[in-house]
Amino acid sequence: MDSETNPPHSPLVSRKTVLRAALAAGAAVPLAMAGGPALARTFADTGTPVQVTPPCDDGDDPTPDQIEGPYFKPNSPQRTDIAGPGVPGTRLMVTGYVFGLACRPIAGALLDFWQADHNGAYDNTGYRFRGHQFTASNGSFALTTIVPGLYPGRTRHIHVKVQAPGRPVLTTQLYFPNEPRNSTDSLFDPRLLMAVRDGGGGRQASFDFVLNVPQDPDDPGDPGDTTWSVGTTYQSGARVTYAGRGYLCLQAHTAQTGWEPPNVPALWQAA
Ligand SMILES: [Fe+2]
Repeated sequence: MDSETNPPHSPLVSRKTVLRAALAAGAAVPLAMAGGPALARTFADTGTPVQVTPPCDDGDDPTPDQIEGPYFKPNSPQRTDIAGPGVPGTRLMVTGYVFGLACRPIAGALLDFWQADHNGAYDNTGYRFRGHQFTASNGSFALTTIVPGLYPGRTRHIHVKVQAPGRPVLTTQLYFPNEPRNSTDSLFDPRLLMAVRDGGGGRQASFDFVLNVPQDPDDPGDPGDTTWSVGTTYQSGARVTYAGRGYLCLQAHTAQTGWEPPNVPALWQAA
């Protein structure tokens, strides 16, 4: 009987047991159990100090950096979709924010992504799976790509350089939860784990970068123009502005807190 083998409290007990076992073993806690890695946005307005995103570089970036004055100018094309149509692999959308030390958004921050294809190979002659973009006025970004393949010696990862205007470049990598090689890759850092779930015909990942950029915690910054509002019912094809960026409604729904256009790529597409 289910009622005997699975009494009402057993899910909680087993969840705790699993968490304890995972922590004791030093293993990554399963995402579904832990609710995912904590996103920096969780700490906005709480006064809790946020941890600066750590650097990570395995030296396999063949794209030459170009420094001109205080601004980093990569050679990669400016685009949010670095996969393009029809490439093999599991579709992946990575969304999140770039924050400063007060967990306030940084607008116009540069994000330069590059990764291996689904076979684990980098394009070292062209720009496949390479692209840069800038955060919107609310600090958000959205990357469309595929889940990168594995190559010898490394766990699954996406490379990225992040730079607030006029600030030093952070070179780091993003990782996937529950990857067998996470425990054997010496570069792996759990602070760089994305929160990943299934969705959008593939997988959807979230990560917030925190840059070592001083901010006034009392200055909310310029939120930009917003026509999107909670409680409004939007039809497919509707257009709104959120934090100064335009979005196209992909699916009819009634707006709720937490469903802000940058947060739900299944409902809103940057336009
Ligand atoms: Fe790499």
